[in-house]
Amino acid sequence: MRTVIRRRVTRMISAFLFQPPLPISPKHQYSLLPLTTTQRFLTASHSFRTLSTKSIPNMQDSASVSYLSQREAAEIDETLMGPLGFSVDQLMELAGLSVATSVAEVYKPSEYSRVLAICGPGNNGGDGLVAARHLHHFGYKPSICYPKRTSKSLYTGLVTQLESLSVPFVSLEDLPENLSEDFDVIIDAIFGFSFHGAPRPPFDAIIRRLQTLQKRPVIVSVDIPSGWHVEEGDHEGGGIKPDMLVSLTAPKLCAKSFSGPHHFLGGRFVPPSVAEKYKLELPSYPGTSMCVRIGKPPKVDISAMRVNYVSPELLEDQVESDPVLQFRKWFDEAVAAGLRETNAMALSTTNKDRKPSSRMVLLKGFDENGFVWFTNYESKKGSDLSENPFAALLFYWEDMNRQVRIEGPVERISEEESENYYHSRPRGSQIGAIVSKQSSVVPGRHVLYDEYEELTKKYSDGSVIPKPKNWGGFRLKPNLFEFWQGQPSRLHDRLQYSLQEGNPAWIIRRLAP
Ligand SMILES: Cc1cc2nc3c(=O)[nH]c(=O)nc-3n(C[C@H](O)[C@H](O)[C@H](O)COP(=O)(O)O)c2cc1C
Repeated sequence: MRTVIRRRVTRMISAFLFQPPLPISPKHQYSLLPLTTTQRFLTASHSFRTLSTKSIPNMQDSASVSYLSQREAAEIDETLMGPLGFSVDQLMELAGLSVATSVAEVYKPSEYSRVLAICGPGNNGGDGLVAARHLHHFGYKPSICYPKRTSKSLYTGLVTQLESLSVPFVSLEDLPENLSEDFDVIIDAIFGFSFHGAPRPPFDAIIRRLQTLQKRPVIVSVDIPSGWHVEEGDHEGGGIKPDMLVSLTAPKLCAKSFSGPHHFLGGRFVPPSVAEKYKLELPSYPGTSMCVRIGKPPKVDISAMRVNYVSPELLEDQVESDPVLQFRKWFDEAVAAGLRETNAMALSTTNKDRKPSSRMVLLKGFDENGFVWFTNYESKKGSDLSENPFAALLFYWEDMNRQVRIEGPVERISEEESENYYHSRPRGSQIGAIVSKQSSVVPGRHVLYDEYEELTKKYSDGSVIPKPKNWGGFRLKPNLFEFWQGQPSRLHDRLQYSLQEGNPAWIIRRLAP
């Protein structure tokens, strides 16, 4: 019996795979640029073209993304829920999670905690309910306006889940007159890609209210800005103007006229077979993220960028008397908070002409003897340090509003320590260290690749890769630390630890912010 079912399923899947694809015209293409942080930018841009090519990515390249007509979107949904075995609940869960993670990428709960999800009667409304549940777990305070409930168990289940979390449901009548006083974000989950015609009551009135909103609350539309034509967009003008659009599976044609600052895609469930069949150009998702930014990141007025820091106070009687222990405490907290590359630090050096120079390096160990990183001794920083063996290190743990400065003399670590660390690295990194004559001019990338390939072949037998003589570690022995904790109104905490000649005890002083 099982074999028969399996054969049937196999037949259905192959029937789907070998059907001619719906034509998705090349006009449905648009330029695409990736995510907010540098690391995301690198990861995402890496993979934009990987659907059809294995070429080495070029960060300057723009790539393209496909746009779906209403019919194509419906057919892909049917395929996912038919031969490909997805259930509605599953797709809704994935969609809602993608929306919640997109919101969290841009609108941090510290500033945008009060979320109102306005949910329509269909699947788009279900996506909104799921997104609200995830946002609750992410630390937001969602409320739900769900005026036309359906009695299907999928939806009643979603409502029960939200009620069990004490997420409030607000009736239309109880919505505050001025939405901006009570909410920071509105999730527009009213109509999705199957919407036709003109919005009917009560949603027409809600949409009119959304049209009049100014800066706050921001509007996040789920897949389709409600009231827009699914293919032609805001064709009559005067429709809602979402600040963020989260396209699901692939953007629909209306998304071409989206001009808000944040366009995200949430569709990290589209199997490659579907992408191939429909010739979908879709970006890869960075890391483990459920969403990826598409379209250009917004232009920002740098002079107006400021965050009001809210953090626990950093008080003299609460800190460790030994700054290395205090650093250990903060470092462990940053690791526990899941920050990326907690060990990344800016290293500043100066040369004999006292000209400063900074770059990032990775901290590879620290204790009472000092802070260690590895590099090429013949690099710019290596040469600076041989001319002036003093340096400053800087850590910035943004999500914790914390900065640590460390200064002091620098010396090379022992050859033995460098050897040990070098051989603990992946073989690719060991070869990379031989190939890179760090900070020297390279005629082209191919030169690095060629040498890398040659050495990879040479050491393919697994033999020991010798450490280059000019590669190794430095250790900075601190004589000054400063722990900075951001606080409201720029009244930041700054505790400085310094040493005085001949006295091993650290002196702790508070500096003005
Ligand atoms: C997050 C991050 C970590 C880095 N870690 C190291 C490192 O541990 N060692 C290193 O030599 N370069 C590292 N680099 C590269 C350096 O920033 C720099 O480009 C390189 O060392 C050459 O610097 P120089 O010419 O000033 O010597 C890192 C870069 C980044 C962005």
